[in-house]
Amino acid sequence: MTVLEAIQKSTEFLAKKGVESARLQAELLLAHLLKMPRMKLYLSFERALAPAETDALRELVKRRGRREPLQHLTGSVSFCGLEIAVNRQALVPRPETELLAEQGWQFLSTLNPQPSTALDFGTGTGCLAIALAVKCPGAKITAVDVSAEALALAGENATRHNVAGQIQFLPGDGFAAFSTDESFDLIISNPPYIPTAEIATLQPEVRDFDPRAALDGGADGLDFYRRLAREAKSFLKPDGRIMLEFGDGQDGTIRNIFEAEKWIVEAVKEDYAHRARILIARK
Ligand SMILES: C[S@@+](CC[C@H](N)C(=O)[O-])C[C@H]1O[C@@H](n2cnc3c(N)ncnc32)[C@H](O)[C@@H]1O
Repeated sequence: MTVLEAIQKSTEFLAKKGVESARLQAELLLAHLLKMPRMKLYLSFERALAPAETDALRELVKRRGRREPLQHLTGSVSFCGLEIAVNRQALVPRPETELLAEQGWQFLSTLNPQPSTALDFGTGTGCLAIALAVKCPGAKITAVDVSAEALALAGENATRHNVAGQIQFLPGDGFAAFSTDESFDLIISNPPYIPTAEIATLQPEVRDFDPRAALDGGADGLDFYRRLAREAKSFLKPDGRIMLEFGDGQDGTIRNIFEAEKWIVEAVKEDYAHRARILIARK
């Protein structure tokens, strides 16, 4: 079978299984397998696949057809230009979260004197904490997660990017692990925000493969925002900021939740699709 034939057969199979952008997905899987940039496939259409390559591709395409996320099959995702290992233990980092990371490091780098401090609440793969540490080498980051398995992965990712010494990973439920005299310049979080009943309606890639604890935001999806609005102030320095990602359409309610707890909402930022997705507030 040639590269072109493999792409065509895989595309057909994935489309039948309801996978979105089937051709692109087939190309990305083959490019991953052959360890070449996707565009190079186009110069290799006539190359014959070795039997072992055909078998390996068949296996990958079968798994993708069962709606396993592409990133789980390739083993990593690019986040703020950093390669972050992913698996079933943590949410696959999303492109919009890069905007949250960017807001975070821009704020930290305005602070003087260094070292600044940040808390990543619900770190998952560690993507936010690691991006902050890489961009702000003077910053000290604490990353908390209720999932020990996610923290293990986050620790591996931090080591991979040589920032393990800058990040303290803590297992725990929210602020439970902190003493009340601890405070940070920045509290950053992309907390779970899907209403419980909506989880069943999500794409299988998300519903069946992202951990439930990374998705479930309670009955209306807002449990973590209420909790952060109530509890985060005592862990924030006087001129500190809280920066939170939230779901499409949640901006009005989240603003109300924070204003009701006497936070000053400084900005609400939009994602690439011009939808409000990030809240920035101060005490
Ligand atoms: C939406 S994921 C975000 C992961 C990562 N920060 C990102 O942006 O890709 C939310 C994370 O919060 C963690 N989490 C859920 N409940 C928590 C709690 N009570 N305390 C701390 N972390 C929690 C989950 O395990 C998950 O890793």
